[in-house]
Amino acid sequence: MEHSLKSVTAPRARTACAILGAFEGGLLTPSARAVDEASGGQLAALARRGDLTGKAGSALVLQTPAGVAAERVVVAGLGKQGDLTLKGFRDAVAAGLRAAGASAARDATLFALEWPVKDVATTSLAQHATQVAAETAYRFDRLKSRREDEARGLARVVLAAPERAGATLQAAAAQGAAIGAGVALARDLGNLPSNLCTPTYLAEEAQRLGKRHKLNVTVLDRRQMEKLGMGALLAVTRGSAEPARFIVLEYNGAPKKHKPVVLVGKGITFDTGGISLKPAGDMDEMKYDMSGAGSVLGTFEAVAGMKLPVNLVGLVPTCENMPSGTAVKPGDIVTSMSGQTIEILNTDAEGRLILCDALTYAERYDPAAVIDIATLTGACVIALGHVATGLFSNRDALAAELVAAGEAAWDRVWHMPLWDDYQEQLKSPFADMANIGGRPAGSVTAACFLSRYARKYPWAHLDIAGTAWKSGRDKGSTGRPVALLTRFVMGRAAR
Ligand code: BES
Ligand code: MN
Ligand code: ZN
Repeated sequence: MEHSLKSVTAPRARTACAILGAFEGGLLTPSARAVDEASGGQLAALARRGDLTGKAGSALVLQTPAGVAAERVVVAGLGKQGDLTLKGFRDAVAAGLRAAGASAARDATLFALEWPVKDVATTSLAQHATQVAAETAYRFDRLKSRREDEARGLARVVLAAPERAGATLQAAAAQGAAIGAGVALARDLGNLPSNLCTPTYLAEEAQRLGKRHKLNVTVLDRRQMEKLGMGALLAVTRGSAEPARFIVLEYNGAPKKHKPVVLVGKGITFDTGGISLKPAGDMDEMKYDMSGAGSVLGTFEAVAGMKLPVNLVGLVPTCENMPSGTAVKPGDIVTSMSGQTIEILNTDAEGRLILCDALTYAERYDPAAVIDIATLTGACVIALGHVATGLFSNRDALAAELVAAGEAAWDRVWHMPLWDDYQEQLKSPFADMANIGGRPAGSVTAACFLSRYARKYPWAHLDIAGTAWKSGRDKGSTGRPVALLTRFVMGRAAR
């Protein structure tokens, strides 16, 4: 999908499809009004007849409208005038683009920057519109032997700008495109099955990313992890025939003296549960258990694509969690890189085991902040569903920054407690801690476990078990929280 920003007026736009907006009651936005006038009142007549409702989610397609250069017009419903929210804006852009894409049009011009959203700047709308356009065009059909409708769908979207499209608006649209590319990369990685998306594949993908954007990429193998003493990570990979990897990405966009932000992504390319085997139903979904890793690579794609003036480090511990004769067993005790010992009571609580060693590894960067991203607990899905990502942090200011970035990116998080009271649940009679804390507050005790390895820097943990993918008929990776993380890093770059 190609994106651009151009100043054009709706009646004169030479496009296969002009996407316009109308509010409930047939109230037309300025561009829609201009098209209505040029066409001799066609839109107003459709509103009177009841075809053009302006209801949120609706999208009316007009073929060969009179008096305008566009071959088609789509009128997206914006709901009640004055009530348009950021979610409503994004939904209307998506509905308009989907209607255009379902026609034979290959390009569209989107007149959405005049759809007013309270408290959201036009530059931000430009970013969201471009991002939504990229996300609506996304397909994952590379594993089908026959691709359907190859010659359909939109190949180009022009975002119509007010008369003098300033440089800031251009930059905002370019940022939206960069985030869109990052989200698409994360979705691709999530959607790839575990026989293709192995730890080795993730490392190769990181290296390709490094070449595209001039990043330093280092990949550690088992021997190097053994030298570092990553006993927790190595316990998880023991049952698997696929070799584990520890991927390090470094993007240097700012002078060396600036402390980096470190992103740590859980990269379990398949989670069977290990000896504590999961039930068979929906186990295929555990191919997404590397979505944290995918979101780290996706964020690097976006941040490096924007050339943001920040230093960013990505750490991706990656392996499979498999049962076998060599697998780690319940009750086994291992020593993590930090020196703390862990009694592994449930081999299905493996995410925290690979993450804890990565959190210790992060200390060498003297980080400004460390954020780990993980499909960590089913309990988080029960707590927050598929709407909000669970946020835990040892610094309230960092948590607030992430909450705000999530709102702005429309990739929201909810701040959960990390009180010491919960730490008790991790007590072990034999080791420094157990790797599980029982059923109550499972997402909190998982975060408590991680917090014991993140004492030396400001740290936040994002549990994306509910938000990284969708189940059901339209199942697939969502690319969350690439937009949130990128917004967060943009905020750091501006500061
Ligand atoms: N990858 C899973 C978490 C998960 C479960 C993500 C369902 C998405 C949907 C994780 O490794 C896991 O198995 N967690 C266990 C922890 C438990 C054994 C303490 C869980 O949530 O059941
Ligand atoms: Mn598990
Ligand atoms: Zn897992």
